[in-house]
Amino acid sequence: MSIERILSAGSVAVVLSAGPVFATEPADLYVGLCAACHGQRGAPLVDSPYPALYDNPRIAAGGPVFVANKTLHGAGNMYSFCNLASDAEVAALSNHLARENGNRSAPLTEAVAATLRPSGEDCPRGGY
Ligand code: HEC
Repeated sequence: MSIERILSAGSVAVVLSAGPVFATEPADLYVGLCAACHGQRGAPLVDSPYPALYDNPRIAAGGPVFVANKTLHGAGNMYSFCNLASDAEVAALSNHLARENGNRSAPLTEAVAATLRPSGEDCPRGGY
């Protein structure tokens, strides 16, 4: 491999790692960002204070907007993901969880997800 190819391969890696998350598939986003606390699909944590997000009646009722609001603002011991996930990622993840829970609302668009974001000090760097 020539040095130019090595350098350009290196810069691609840098560009990719600049984003908050690598994954683009919503199920992969879930595993990467949420599963540590909320458990895997079909395998909720046992005796956990963290609610399962598959088979969840509140998501079934509240749909993607409910999920996006929790994701962007945090809840209880859950920190905000406002600086850890893009609008597109929040929309994809919210639509995925809504669908998986049987919610039939219209999918959340990236543009609407952007309007749900907290701003300024409510969205501190690092997500906490
Ligand atoms: C550090 C642990 C942690 C992580 C990581 C986390 N959550 Fe949470 N989440 C919680 C806790 C704790 C609650 C319950 C908060 C409360 O007291 O209402 C919660 C609640 C929720 C709820 C409300 C569920 C309900 O039944 O009321 C949603 C929706 C949710 N989280 C989505 C997500 C999504 C999407 C992700 C990944 C982007 C995520 N969470 C990552 C800890 C976490």
